[in-house]
Amino acid sequence: MEYARLLHKCRNAYIFGLGNKTYEHYNAVAKYIDKRLEELGATRVYEMGMGDDDANIEDDFITWKDGFWPAVCEFFGIESTGEDISMRQYKLEEFTDEVPDRVFTGEMARLHSLKTQRPPYDAKNPFLAKVVVNRELHKTGSDRSCMHIEFDIEGSKMRYEAGDHVAVYPINNSELVEKIGKLTKKDLDTIFTLVNIDEESSKKHPFPCPCTYRTALSHYVDITMNPRTHVLKELSEYASDPAEKEKLKLMASTTPEGKALYQQWVIDDNRNIVHILEDMPSCKPDLDHLCELLPRLQPRYYSISSSPKLYPNTVHITAVLVEYSTPTKRLNRGVATTWLKEKKPIAEGECPTVPIFIRKSQFRLPQKPQTPIIMVGPGTGLAPFRGFIQERSVSKKDGQTLGDTILFFGCRKKCEDYIYEEELTQYEKDNVIKLYCAFSRDQGQKVYVHHLMDQDADEIHRIIIEENGHLYICGDARHMANDVRNVMIKILQKSMDKQQATAYLKKMETQKRLSADVWS
Ligand code: FAD
Ligand code: 2AM
Repeated sequence: MEYARLLHKCRNAYIFGLGNKTYEHYNAVAKYIDKRLEELGATRVYEMGMGDDDANIEDDFITWKDGFWPAVCEFFGIESTGEDISMRQYKLEEFTDEVPDRVFTGEMARLHSLKTQRPPYDAKNPFLAKVVVNRELHKTGSDRSCMHIEFDIEGSKMRYEAGDHVAVYPINNSELVEKIGKLTKKDLDTIFTLVNIDEESSKKHPFPCPCTYRTALSHYVDITMNPRTHVLKELSEYASDPAEKEKLKLMASTTPEGKALYQQWVIDDNRNIVHILEDMPSCKPDLDHLCELLPRLQPRYYSISSSPKLYPNTVHITAVLVEYSTPTKRLNRGVATTWLKEKKPIAEGECPTVPIFIRKSQFRLPQKPQTPIIMVGPGTGLAPFRGFIQERSVSKKDGQTLGDTILFFGCRKKCEDYIYEEELTQYEKDNVIKLYCAFSRDQGQKVYVHHLMDQDADEIHRIIIEENGHLYICGDARHMANDVRNVMIKILQKSMDKQQATAYLKKMETQKRLSADVWS
C-alpha cells in the first residue's frame, strides 16, 4: 500500500534495478515500476538501467551512472562541476584513554546477545547452536571435502520444516584479519566507533559500534570478496607511489581500458582486499575508512538436510568446502565452510557453537504423501531432499501409502563423492525411494542427471502429466537447473508441442508443482 502511494506521488523517474540473470524474472520489479510510473504520468528523466549480479553489477551501475548524471543536470538545469568528490559518510572516534561501557564483540544488534541468549531468534538475534556432529561425507580418495553438520536447537524454540534454510554467521579467517592490521599499520585492539555524519539517518553506524578493529574485521565486514571499483577509487587516494595510484584510479574509471584492467587484475586474478594491499605496498589506507568502505559480512544460507519429524532437536546441513587457488598462486578459502570445518565436538558435552537462524522457504513437500514427486539434486543439491525422504519414510512407517518418490542424484565418482550412499541405498531397499545416480566422471563421457531423466522419459511423463506429480530441482543455478528444465520440456513434448510444454512448466510453477531451490 505504502509503495503504491509513493508511485502515485512520483513525478520524475530514474530507475536502476538490481537483478541477476540466472533468475527467470530478471529485474522484474524495476521493469514493473518503470512501466507503472509511465502509466501514471511520470517523466522518465533517464532510461532505466538494469544490473546483473551474475556478471558485474557495479560495472552496470557506473556505466549507467555515466549517462545518468548529465541527464539529471540537463533536466533540472543544474551545472555539473565535473568533479566527483568523495565524501565520508561516517565520522571516526577512537577510544584511546578510556574503555567505553558498551563494546560490541560480534553481536548482530543487541549487546551481549550472544552471552545472554533470549528467544525469539532471528537474523538480528541469532541462536548459538552447539555443533553436535561434524563428519566428512566424501570418501578417502576424494580431493574435496563435504561436511555433514548437525546443530543442536533444543531449548531454542526455533522450529523448522523440511525444505527450510538455516543461516550461519561466520567469522573471517584470523590470519587475514591480522594481515590487514599489519598492512594498515594499525593496532587491532583499538576501540573505535563510526558515527553517521547525517544525524537524521536511521542508520547511525555501518555495523555495531563501538568495537575493536579486530572485531569489525572478524565479524562485520567482508574481507574476502573482490572489492568493488568505488573501493579502489578511495584506495587510490592512499597510494603514495604514483604508478600504483594511477593503476587504482584507472581500474575505478569507466574507460574500456580501466574496465578491462579491473576485470583482469581484480576479478580474473581473484584479488581480495588483503591481496590488493600486499600488491600495492605504498597504499596504506586508514583502517576506519576501509571498514566503512567494505561491505557487511553476510550470513551464509544452507538448505536444511533433515526433517523435524525425525530430528526435532537438530538441524542438519550438507556443506561442501570452498577452497581454490588463484592465478596469483594464492589459496583462497571460503569464509563459512573453512570456519565450519574446524567446528568439531571435542567430547560429549564439549561442543563448539555457531550463531544461526532459520529462514522459512517455499520449498515444500506436497501435503499428501500419496502425491508422486520427482527430486533432482546433484552434489549438495541433495540436501533438502534428504529431509524430504526422511519425512516420507516416517509417513511410510506410520502406515501411509507413498506416491512415487523418485530421486535423481549426481556426483563425480561413485567411490569419491557419493554422499549419504548408505542412507540412500537403504531407503531404496525399503521402497521409500526410487534412485537414479549419474556418476559424471566414472566413464569416458559425462553422464549428468538430465541425461538419466531423458532415458526415463516415459516414467517422468506419466508422473507429471497423468498423476499430477511434483517436480523439485535443487543445487547449481547456472547450468544444471536450466538443463533440467530443458529436458523436461523435451519430455513433455511426448504429448504436446514445444510451446505448450514451456507453458505447462510455467503453469506447474504457479501451481507450486515445480519448485527450485538453487544457488550459484
Ligand atoms: P565464500 O567465502 O562465500 O566464497 C565463495 C565464493 O568464492 C563464490 O561465490 C565464488 O565467487 C568464489 N569461488 C568459489 N569457488 C571458486 C573457484 N573454484 N574459482 C574461483 N572462485 C571461486 N552450499 C552448500 O554447500 N550446501 C547447501 O545446502 C547450500 N544451500 C544453499 C541454499 C541457498 C538458498 C543459498 C543461497 C546458498 C546455499 N549454499 C549451499 C551456498 C552457501 O550459502 C555458501 O555460498 C557456500 O557454502 C560458500 O560459502 P563460503 O563462505 O565458504 O565461501
Ligand atoms: P562434473 O563436475 O563432472 O562436470 C555435482 O557437482 C555433479 O553435477 C558433478 O557430477 C558434476 O559433474 C555435475 N554437473 C556439472 N554440470 C552439470 C549440469 N549442467 N547438469 C547436471 N549435472 C552437472
